[in-house]
Amino acid sequence: MAKLNFLTSSSSLLQLFLLLTISLAAAQGTPTPPQQKLSHLRFFWHDVVGGPNATAVPVTRPPNATATAFGTMVVIDDAMTEGPEITSKLVGRAQGFYLLASQTEAALLMSMNLAFTDGKRNGSTLAVLGRNPVFDKVREMAVVGGTGVFRLARGYAQLKTYSLDATSRNAVVEYNVYVTYY
Ligand SMILES: *[C@@H]1O[C@H](CO)[C@@H](O)[C@H](O)[C@H]1NC(C)=O
Ligand SMILES: *[C@@H]1O[C@H](CO)[C@@H](O)[C@H](O)[C@H]1NC(C)=O
Ligand SMILES: *[C@@H]1O[C@H](CO)[C@@H](O)[C@H](O)[C@H]1NC(C)=O
Repeated sequence: MAKLNFLTSSSSLLQLFLLLTISLAAAQGTPTPPQQKLSHLRFFWHDVVGGPNATAVPVTRPPNATATAFGTMVVIDDAMTEGPEITSKLVGRAQGFYLLASQTEAALLMSMNLAFTDGKRNGSTLAVLGRNPVFDKVREMAVVGGTGVFRLARGYAQLKTYSLDATSRNAVVEYNVYVTYY
């Protein structure tokens, strides 16, 4: 009986407290939360693996190379341009690495910052982390965060190979990135 009484009185105390808090908040005016924005970014990513202007450099080579080059890591500073030609307007650089992370297929672990250099997003970045089975028609990777105008970003990137040079292995990949941020 005593226990029940205690419960009843503590729950009415709680109700009183909640009422007070609510009326206080109403009196002060609750701050409006920041508006969430949604953007679709489209650009072309240029992986130049050889020659004098290489922007992708292998830094590890497994001792016994398999067909999937499992264990190879490539550090990149790849140009991102508005159009598919490397001479088209530069919007930023994709800096990070990809790792051949599958023993059975050509699948990468990619970890990179998209460092934008154009317009209002100059100096802002998006952090991308994901799995990229390079011969799939469309691949999807996660946007796990951002800085500058892209603070608190979340989203995803869809990749489509635009061209792959069989000799040089240079690749141009179309990126469509969908992000929400504040
Ligand atoms: C390397 O870049 C320079 C300067 O942009 C350019 O003139 C040259 O043609 C490029 N070379 C190759 C092999 O792409
Ligand atoms: C690589 O291959 C050689 C020759 O077949 C073998 O002796 C060696 O143990 C292999 N190394 C690894 C890390 O598998
Ligand atoms: C981007 O910002 C850097 C550093 O503030 C500046 O040097 C550069 O001119 C800017 N680029 C553009 C295209 O605004």
